[in-house]
Amino acid sequence: MDLSVQIGPLRLKNPVMTASGTFGYGLEFADYLDLNALGAIVVKGLSLQPRPGNAPPRIYETAAGMLNAIGLQNVGVEEFVTTKLPALRQYDTPIIANALGNTIEEYTEVCRVLAHTEGIAAVEINVSCPNVKEGGIHFATEPAQTGRVTEAVRRVMGDMPLIVKLSPNVTHIVPFARACRAAGADAVSLVNTFVGIAIDLDTMRPRLSNLTGGLSGPAIKPLAQRLVWEVCRDVDIPVIGIGGIMNATDALEYMALGAVAVQVGTANFIRPDAARQIVAGMADFCAARGITRLENFIGAFLRRETS
Ligand SMILES: Cc1cc2nc3c(=O)[nH]c(=O)nc-3n(C[C@H](O)[C@H](O)[C@H](O)COP(=O)(O)O)c2cc1C
Repeated sequence: MDLSVQIGPLRLKNPVMTASGTFGYGLEFADYLDLNALGAIVVKGLSLQPRPGNAPPRIYETAAGMLNAIGLQNVGVEEFVTTKLPALRQYDTPIIANALGNTIEEYTEVCRVLAHTEGIAAVEINVSCPNVKEGGIHFATEPAQTGRVTEAVRRVMGDMPLIVKLSPNVTHIVPFARACRAAGADAVSLVNTFVGIAIDLDTMRPRLSNLTGGLSGPAIKPLAQRLVWEVCRDVDIPVIGIGGIMNATDALEYMALGAVAVQVGTANFIRPDAARQIVAGMADFCAARGITRLENFIGAFLRRETS
């Protein structure tokens, strides 16, 4: 049975990746699952300089989900490359670096380092950051801004595959995916978290020090699947589905909607080996349905919808 998938120029042995920020730098999970079983590992978002993140509390559990405002805490790209990546290279699993910045120059500097580093298979840029030079407008909330940062990063990346991770906090997602395609992205990943708040009625204080946070987990799956479906229908670019994937069925739903691969996030906090279990569940599904190549299953719902 062949579970491998193609994401632009990137071939993965199976479509299951871990989502950025939910799987550390990968090695933290090595005692809980065989990292070689994963399609790819997407590491915590990396900035040019280290970031301390927000003050606690930074995580709050909600009904069927989780709000987080970690504040993009990370060790910085240089430290990642010198102290974390060498141990990851022993695994036969592609490492995808997630990059972030507050200016186009910061994005390009981070990506320039990553593009010249052995052991990085692809870069995913997280555009859900404010552009400080443009008055704090998020790169993710105007298609032209998303296009500009994608184009600038593409220029410094050479042949390395480039994935742009989109925010769901927009009115229409399709123009963003189109902007990424036009700017030379190899794929888009959707979605990042939905902005929310939670308050404590006794103290009249927010549950998170940052007040707002990003909602993830099963609560967002139908919202995220609608966005994936819209992009897969309308834009000719590979899509990686993310949001509330807890088991193989959830992941396969994304693939039926047209996603070529998926990322597993919040589930890692509940079961550290969730991603490996999802790979096993996909193999079981294929065996039960007589599917010999999982790639042939991608878009099964879309094809039925249009037939
Ligand atoms: C604690 C936490 C930290 C995250 N950090 C990042 C990050 O650094 N970069 C990024 O692109 N997405 C980040 N995300 C978003 C996830 O990668 C994913 O898009 C989101 O959680 C939705 O997937 P899920 O419902 O499976 O968790 C983070 C999510 C959580 C819960």
